[in-house]
Amino acid sequence: MAETSCEIQDGAIVERPRDVRQHPLLAAIYERHDELIATHLPGGETLELAFGQHVHPQADVGTEAWRPNVRRVRTPAVLGDARSLPFADGSFEAVIGRRFLHHVPAEDRPAMLREARRVLKPGGRLVLLEGTPGLYRRVTKRLAFRFGFLDEDTDRYGHLSEADVDELVRSTFEVVDTETLGSPLVVAGIAESPVAAALFPLYRRTQCVKWWTLVVGRKPAEPADTQG
Ligand SMILES: C[S@@+](CC[C@H](N)C(=O)[O-])C[C@H]1O[C@@H](n2cnc3c(N)ncnc32)[C@H](O)[C@@H]1O
Repeated sequence: MAETSCEIQDGAIVERPRDVRQHPLLAAIYERHDELIATHLPGGETLELAFGQHVHPQADVGTEAWRPNVRRVRTPAVLGDARSLPFADGSFEAVIGRRFLHHVPAEDRPAMLREARRVLKPGGRLVLLEGTPGLYRRVTKRLAFRFGFLDEDTDRYGHLSEADVDELVRSTFEVVDTETLGSPLVVAGIAESPVAAALFPLYRRTQCVKWWTLVVGRKPAEPADTQG
C-alpha cells in the first residue's frame, strides 16, 4: 500500500507524496524530467513550487504548503501557498512547478499563475509539468486504486488536459514550448524492486502515451517607459 499523508488546507490538497527514492524506475523518470526542465532554465535565481519531496537540483529555493515536506529537503525551503507566494516581485529568473495545479480547485489556478508571474523578472521562465488525463492514464490509475496500489485521492479536482494547461499558462505568459511525455511503462514506476530501473531505456524509447504535459512560459518584458 502506498504511504501518504494528506489534508485539505483552504481547499488545497497538501500531502507527503510518494518518496521516489523507494521506486527506482520512478526515480530515473524524475531524473529525466530534471534534465528536460534544466534545458529550459535560463540560469539565475530559481524557485520550485510545491516540490513535495523532490527539489530540482538547479532550484535555489522551494516553497511548499505541507510543513513536513519543507523540513525534509536539503535545498532551502519555505512554508507557503502557491496562491500567495512569500517572495517579492521580480525575485526569480525561473519558476518550476510539477504536478501541483490539480491540487487546488480550478477557480484558484489562475491565482497561482499570476503569483508565478509576479515573482519572476521580465523575460523569466515558468516551467510546468502536469499530469495529463489520457485514456491509458485514466484506466491504469483506476485499476491501481481498485487493487489498493494507490490509497490517496488527490485527483478529486481533476487533472488538466494539455489544452487546459496551455490555456492557463497562455492567459498570463507567452507559451514558448509544450511537450507530451509518457510511456506504457510508467505504471512500472510503482515497483520498489531495483530491477525496475532496468526498464528505463525502454521507457525512453516508448514515449507514445499521454501521462504528463510540459509547458514552458515566458514572462513578457515590461513595455519600455515612454517619455514626453
Ligand atoms: C502530487 S504532489 C507533487 C510534488 C512534487 N512537485 C513532485 O512532482 O513530486 C503535489 C504537491 O503540491 C503541494 N501543494 C498542494 N497545494 C499547494 C499549494 N496551494 N501551495 C503549495 N504547495 C501545494 C502538496 O503538498 C504536494 O506536495
